[in-house]
Amino acid sequence: MNKKLIVALDFDNADKALNFLNNLNPNKCLVKVGLELFISEGWKILDLISDRGFEIFLDLKLHDIPNTVAKSIKKISNFNVALTTVHLNGGMNMLEAACSEKANIKILGVSILTSLSKEEIFEITDTNFDVYFNNLISIASSSNVDGVVCSPNELDRLKDFNKLKVVPGIRNNISDDDQKRVMTSSEAYKKGADFIVVGRPITKSEDPKKTLELFL
Ligand code: C5P
Repeated sequence: MNKKLIVALDFDNADKALNFLNNLNPNKCLVKVGLELFISEGWKILDLISDRGFEIFLDLKLHDIPNTVAKSIKKISNFNVALTTVHLNGGMNMLEAACSEKANIKILGVSILTSLSKEEIFEITDTNFDVYFNNLISIASSSNVDGVVCSPNELDRLKDFNKLKVVPGIRNNISDDDQKRVMTSSEAYKKGADFIVVGRPITKSEDPKKTLELFL
């Protein structure tokens, strides 16, 4: 896979998502199907997108007991999905159970959601963000997951992490939306992102085709 851009199809129905695909070239990007689109449309959306020639990142962020997650990954592996996500804090047994059923799919471990503040992390874990992050990354390193999802701000700490780094929170222009700790695409690539995930800057652009080129 030599493409580095993943466009987030954060739409609430198949018609909108498929219509938007007319702006994209499957040779230039993958597309991300997240919870909203998946819950709205179910499994059929994966076939509809794959029939258009796109590779899919199915971002459901699974987090449950090992047996349940393994069975869900097995089900996902029946579809044409390139990458999918589980939460690293599901623990080593859950990650290894997931990986045992992954077939050709790459499994990414979600580190810390960018929506969580340092204070919330402390409230939940009674430890600080850096320690918690490092613990999650060391679990990712010693498990069979293929990579992690992390914020661009964490890339500097992952220089010695030799698995995939998939990075949302990318903005090439100043924005006033909910992504606060952002980085430009070129900085993120320079700091070692293997894939960047970009949604609204492309999906809400007046000229998505032209805007997409700025993130390659
Ligand atoms: O529109 P925007 O570029 O902010 O979209 C980013 C995508 O990446 C969204 O689909 C969002 O759910 C996802 N994401 C994120 N932060 C994370 C994990 C995933 O923004 N930590």
